[in-house]
Amino acid sequence: MSSAPHTEEQRANSTRIAMEQHSQWLVTAFIASGMLFMLLPGTFLGVWNLIGISQQHTLSTLSPAWLQAHGQAQVFGWIGSFILGIGFYSLTKMQSTLTFPVRAGWTSWGLWTLGIALRWIGGVTGWQWRILLPLSGALELTAFLLFFRSVRRHRPADPAQRPLRRETWMVLVMAATVAFLVAMIVNFAALTHLALYGDSPALPHVFDQQLVVLAVWGVLVPTIWGFNARWLPVFAGFKKPQGVRLLVAYGLSVAGVLAVFAEWLPIAAVLFLFAALLAIDALHVWEPAVQPAKLLHVHKTFPLFIRLTYVWLVVSCVLDALAVLYDHAGGIWGASRHALTVGFIAGMVFVIGQRILPAFCGMRILWSTRLMFWSLLLLHVGCALRVTLEPLAYESYWKFAWKLLPYSAFVELTAVVLFALNIVETLLHAGRQPL
Ligand code: HEM
Repeated sequence: MSSAPHTEEQRANSTRIAMEQHSQWLVTAFIASGMLFMLLPGTFLGVWNLIGISQQHTLSTLSPAWLQAHGQAQVFGWIGSFILGIGFYSLTKMQSTLTFPVRAGWTSWGLWTLGIALRWIGGVTGWQWRILLPLSGALELTAFLLFFRSVRRHRPADPAQRPLRRETWMVLVMAATVAFLVAMIVNFAALTHLALYGDSPALPHVFDQQLVVLAVWGVLVPTIWGFNARWLPVFAGFKKPQGVRLLVAYGLSVAGVLAVFAEWLPIAAVLFLFAALLAIDALHVWEPAVQPAKLLHVHKTFPLFIRLTYVWLVVSCVLDALAVLYDHAGGIWGASRHALTVGFIAGMVFVIGQRILPAFCGMRILWSTRLMFWSLLLLHVGCALRVTLEPLAYESYWKFAWKLLPYSAFVELTAVVLFALNIVETLLHAGRQPL
């Protein structure tokens, strides 16, 4: 009789360990495929595109389908895969009585990865694009729906454990998840329409830019703000965020996205700038920390690089406003987008990712903190070169900038390779943290 509770306890323990292991393998698969998309279809194609543009001295001769394939691979292939992987991993932390959705998780990973790969192949090669593009949209949407359903079902079983008022970070992450679903539906509808009525595997320019804004400002930026609100007070010792202010910042950014769809670009630029400044204020990013940062297993410049990403967010918004007034050849728009996607988003993923991913993927220790530093430094140097040179070259302010522009891509490429190397070595060879 006395051994029964013990056996019961052991059984519960081994179920918990098995669930933890499944979630670690799944998050590792999402991170690995995400990094593959980042490296080859994303960054190599981006570098290739930039070299082509620099040789032709214009953006207009480059295939729009190639530009869009690059953007899709980076935004959905890389960052999207990271979001899904971390989302699935977090299900084991929700104190739900449901077991980890192993089958839904792996099916979602398979469909998502195939969908992203087909989208890229259809866009870049043009082979059977009328079939591949809508098929990719359907696969991505189905994969996301599986993820969405798993997250919705995994709420704490005991109503007493459900918070009466959701914390701000949860509201932001949930809103970004709904926006992700909307982006997937719009993407699928647009690709189906393109396959039926279009004459090339590229979406019309204006609509494509709106879709990019929906994905970046609607999904990626609020996801970052949400997780920053949760983690920065712990990891970087920042003051606790001002919830209401952060929600107002989010509201302004949603209004900005709607303004872009209504083609009110000057209004959108102002809304994004105010949203960014308010979020910085609410998250206390540029204020002195109130507690020492937790720097074990990361480089000591961790808080500095967090702060720097927000400089890029503001630079991006200011350039956005300048682009509305002065852009003629896509150079100021491009610089604004690059400051946001590389300076803010990739910069944040590099710095936070090297802090959290080793633990999520099996309680490991980051392979090299020195490599972490160099990947971050080179990313920001490359981004600074690109953001400065792109308007000068594209807008014909300084012809010599065309010659320098490709170097920015090589510096960023090196940064990306160092980041990938550090994560891969961490997964393959680095030690584990004591439990
Ligand atoms: C080595 C790094 C990168 C290089 C060389 C690069 C290069 C380019 C180039 C040449 C363009 C065409 C527009 C322009 O001339 O500005 C572009 C567009 C774009 N890039 Fe990148 N990029 C890089 C990294 C990234 C990253 C990390 C992301 C996202 C996280 C990203 C997202 C995008 C998006 C969304 C577009 C717009 C695509 C469209 O118009 O549909 N890029 N990039």
